[in-house]
Amino acid sequence: MLELKNVTKKFNLTGALDDERIALDNISLAISPGEFVTIIGGNGSGKSTTLNIISGSLKPDSGIITLNGRDITKLKEYQRAAYFGRVFQDPMKGTAGDMSVLENLEIAYNRGRRHSPIKWGFSEKHKEYFINELKRFDLGLEDRLSQKVGVMSGGQRQALTLLMATMRNNPTYQMMRRDYILFSGLKEEDARKEFDQEFSSKKAILDEHIRTIKLDSSISKNDKKEMIRNAKDEFDRQIREKFDLTKQILLLDEHTAALDPKTAKKVLELTNKVVRENKMTTLMVTHNMKDALTYGDRLIMFHLGHIILDVKGKEKEKLSVEDLLKMFDEADKKAENE
Ligand SMILES: Nc1ncnc2c1ncn2[C@@H]1O[C@H](COP(=O)(O)OP(=O)(O)OP(=O)(O)O)[C@@H](O)[C@H]1O
Ligand SMILES: [Mg+2]
Repeated sequence: MLELKNVTKKFNLTGALDDERIALDNISLAISPGEFVTIIGGNGSGKSTTLNIISGSLKPDSGIITLNGRDITKLKEYQRAAYFGRVFQDPMKGTAGDMSVLENLEIAYNRGRRHSPIKWGFSEKHKEYFINELKRFDLGLEDRLSQKVGVMSGGQRQALTLLMATMRNNPTYQMMRRDYILFSGLKEEDARKEFDQEFSSKKAILDEHIRTIKLDSSISKNDKKEMIRNAKDEFDRQIREKFDLTKQILLLDEHTAALDPKTAKKVLELTNKVVRENKMTTLMVTHNMKDALTYGDRLIMFHLGHIILDVKGKEKEKLSVEDLLKMFDEADKKAENE
């Protein structure tokens, strides 16, 4: 669960008292795990500010942000980065143009490993994994692994950024443990116990399995190596499936606005697929009201730093673009009269 509680954010560019602008006015919002929320609202209504406060690139003046019950308000952007994937409007922003597709993916993959040295280049070991991920995207990117991202189209770059924003970061077990204790939503003591017990019991099974393989004289040396590797991979998969909390939340800020209509649709479809398959909690800002109605489980409308509409399920399905336009107009009129 991601929660904003009474969040207020003001901007004051000149320092003059009468120049204060309220970007968010005491906003509260609770988003359930796996929920796909579309966000609409006029220019300057507070949509991007909300996403920036969630990701930590802006600090609220007051109010708190919690993730699975943990207060993350004071965590710096880089400290939360592993939990949030972001895609911005500008296709240039999410990827490094002078690096290849593979190099970009490798950097995204290693981002959660805070203690590893930054590697420029990629490891052969991850190549197969990246190719499989790219194939899911069905854009032919798996055939252009060594191509520089800078020569790719905006749509391809956004698709790649989307993959980088949703791909698990492969943290070390130690990091997973620390993060599970911090972000699982369980009491610290319980989270620690659960991780340690599960890890050591699975590790004991693995060790026993490896011991029997080693002792079995009917298996060739090469086969043994392969079996041990498979056993370790399976252990790794099980631990990650349960304890890897990275990339839980996806923040999309008009990520298809700079694309032509056909490409925009393709990237949106892709977004929907990835969000559903990875069961990610998603906030998608868009100016396209039709998209806001078509996609997602819940729709939120911002107006001058307030949430003026929050609907889901049947109530959302009933809405039309005309309904939304009417609400915008009414909110504008009301604000003018105040
Ligand atoms: N870094 C900043 N410095 C000063 N004012 C800012 C800053 N960021 C946002 N604002 C102001 O806060 C208000 C909300 O801005 P925000 O970017 O959240 O709007 P938005 O809903 O994303 O709009 P748009 O649809 O144009 O992207 C606006 O009045 C904006 O001018
Ligand atoms: Mg914005």
